[in-house]
Amino acid sequence: MRHMTFLCVCVLVTILTCSSSALKILSVFPYPGKSHFIVVRVLLRELARKGHDVTVISYYPEKNPPQNYHDIVLSGESIAAEDSLSIEDFNYMSVIQTSFYLTLTGKENCEILLSNKEVQDLVKRKTKFDVVLVEQFNSDCALGLAYKLNAPVVGVTTHIMMPWHYNRYGISYNPSYVSFHFLKGGTKPTLYQRLERVVFDAYFKILYYVITQRSNQNVLAKYYNDIPPLEDLAREIKCLLISQHFTLTSSGLYPANVIEVGGYHVEKARPLNGDLGKFVEEADAGVIYISFGSTFMISTMPQDKLEAILETIAELPQRFVWRWNSVAIDKPPFTELRSELRSILTNKRKVYLSAWLPQVDLLGHPKTVAFFSHAGMGGTTESLHFGVPVVAMPILGDQLANGASIEESGLGVQIFLNDLTKENLIHAIKNVMEPGFRERVRQLSKAWHDRPLSPLDTAVYWTEYTARNANFTFRSAAADVPLYQFYNLDVAFIFVIIFVILIATCKILLCRPKKQATTKKKRS
Ligand SMILES: *[C@@H]1O[C@H](CO)[C@@H](O)[C@H](O)[C@H]1NC(C)=O
Repeated sequence: MRHMTFLCVCVLVTILTCSSSALKILSVFPYPGKSHFIVVRVLLRELARKGHDVTVISYYPEKNPPQNYHDIVLSGESIAAEDSLSIEDFNYMSVIQTSFYLTLTGKENCEILLSNKEVQDLVKRKTKFDVVLVEQFNSDCALGLAYKLNAPVVGVTTHIMMPWHYNRYGISYNPSYVSFHFLKGGTKPTLYQRLERVVFDAYFKILYYVITQRSNQNVLAKYYNDIPPLEDLAREIKCLLISQHFTLTSSGLYPANVIEVGGYHVEKARPLNGDLGKFVEEADAGVIYISFGSTFMISTMPQDKLEAILETIAELPQRFVWRWNSVAIDKPPFTELRSELRSILTNKRKVYLSAWLPQVDLLGHPKTVAFFSHAGMGGTTESLHFGVPVVAMPILGDQLANGASIEESGLGVQIFLNDLTKENLIHAIKNVMEPGFRERVRQLSKAWHDRPLSPLDTAVYWTEYTARNANFTFRSAAADVPLYQFYNLDVAFIFVIIFVILIATCKILLCRPKKQATTKKKRS
């Protein structure tokens, strides 16, 4: 009997401690980018699986959510991020367009978020959250919300940092060895690339601080009258989970609260089935997977570039699985292709076209020998996860920096749209399929997996850590140092003054008599 009582008490204590360690977590994703959300969704579901109570503000509700996962669904006239972008070579115009797009959506996303009734209710009811996950992308609007809820913030990104994110964590962006989000080049830039980085860094920051952040602040002020400057709230972010890892993006100089969790979204590859499974299994020389992501329409590709890819497919012995994000092939512009090239697209034994492909299962399949990709961060980390070499054709945004990382890490090679010819593409694909190259990729993949804690567990750990230690902000002191002190300009100024005084004193006291002495000597 006494044993039973003891057991009951034990069970009760366990239940109590379990439920008390379950956290109430809010996550705010006001940007409607699907490629971003499919990454963080894995973390959010994992947090729910661990027993935490998770509330998610996003454009992407779960179909069958677990009991402790609640959606607040945003909807509105926001520009869909997945609108068709055209495939064109890198140029400054597209960088400027991207900057306008980010500014515009950064403003709009904030208005849609704050005008949502359920979101307003969270604040009205003073709902208590232990931690708030906030996407670090094109707006800081959600930081105002977290402030009203009086909860500590974990920043989340799904790509390398945006130019305006470095300062708030006390990282000084250094163009001499750090890739820039929107430009070509890696850790060894040319002088021209460094100039480019400095100019665009200033441009993007000014646009962000002057337009986006100020507009977010004004929209917040319409609803709440006590929101501190957003940049101050940004410096109060407890930690940042970044979607990168040094094996791919090289060792960065990050403070202790900026945590690399790249690849946490990659799930176990399942066997392929149906038509696709059969197509891949029967590929004697292996399969090459082609995908330019969800945003780029293949029909916008210049005709000669499309022909180069089709001629490459015809020439290589491999089969091709192509994420066909486009109109059907019996519509223009594909009807304008030469008939022998069009017949490649319709050859069911050579090419498998589909808008919906299980990318992870494909990259994880042993028959997949190479990936021809636009170098989005998701696909790039998935390739590294499964050790599939990449031929990267970056088009815009972070893809350009990712492409440089792919090449520098040894995961693959880059080819730019301008240089895309049949000869170059065949050369690039053959290059990454060489046994030596593939062995290096296998070794790199081994290093990528070799971590003290899996990336998903690391992301969960730091989320829980933030809730457990919410009364501290362990940011680098560098984030609080005024710029003139950060660069020791005042110290340099004092040294310049001392130097000038010394020279002057020397001129007056020492040099002049000497001069006189020598002239005297001459005279005598
Ligand atoms: C933060 O400090 C307050 C006041 O001392 C305390 O009640 C609270 O439990 C602390 N929070 C955490 C997460 O330790």
